[in-house]
Amino acid sequence: MTPCRLIYKSIANDEILAPGQLSKLANEASIYNRRLGLHGILALSDNKFLQLLEGPSKFVNELFCNIVKDPRHHQIELISFEDSVRPEFVDWSMKLLELDKIDASMQSFLRKKYPMKDDKFEFPNESFLMTSFLMDLKYILSD
Ligand SMILES: Cc1cc2nc3c(=O)[nH]c(=O)nc-3n(C[C@H](O)[C@H](O)[C@H](O)COP(=O)(O)O)c2cc1C
Repeated sequence: MTPCRLIYKSIANDEILAPGQLSKLANEASIYNRRLGLHGILALSDNKFLQLLEGPSKFVNELFCNIVKDPRHHQIELISFEDSVRPEFVDWSMKLLELDKIDASMQSFLRKKYPMKDDKFEFPNESFLMTSFLMDLKYILSD
């Protein structure tokens, strides 16, 4: 099956931001994704999610339909869907990155390129910049 890449953003509900809930979600997602050959990253800044999913198109689409219905977040907005991509996130079945908790060197790298508001990272608005932001996260985490 052709690998594809899907990116969306959403707003987290309070429930998922309660202690331990986010890592529980990421662990369950990793188990499911590994079984289906899906990979990606889930970034959280303040109460905003940005998630990238890669893998067989059929499974990515099915999962996205599930994710859209999930009551733990709202204002889900599809940013991009690309077919036949070269997979970039194969090392992670689902990497959770809480941007409010990253170390100072990662912060300073990202601060040079991306805007902040009230000391929180603002996800870029344009889809190509969102992709670039996620690729930069991969780069700094793999370093
Ligand atoms: C922000 C967010 C990201 C999610 N990412 C994944 C994921 O990568 N993989 C996954 O299996 N479930 C993910 N989920 C959970 C799904 O929405 C859903 O609960 C899961 O696929 C189980 O669906 P089911 O109960 O219909 O089997 C995510 C949920 C949220 C709120």
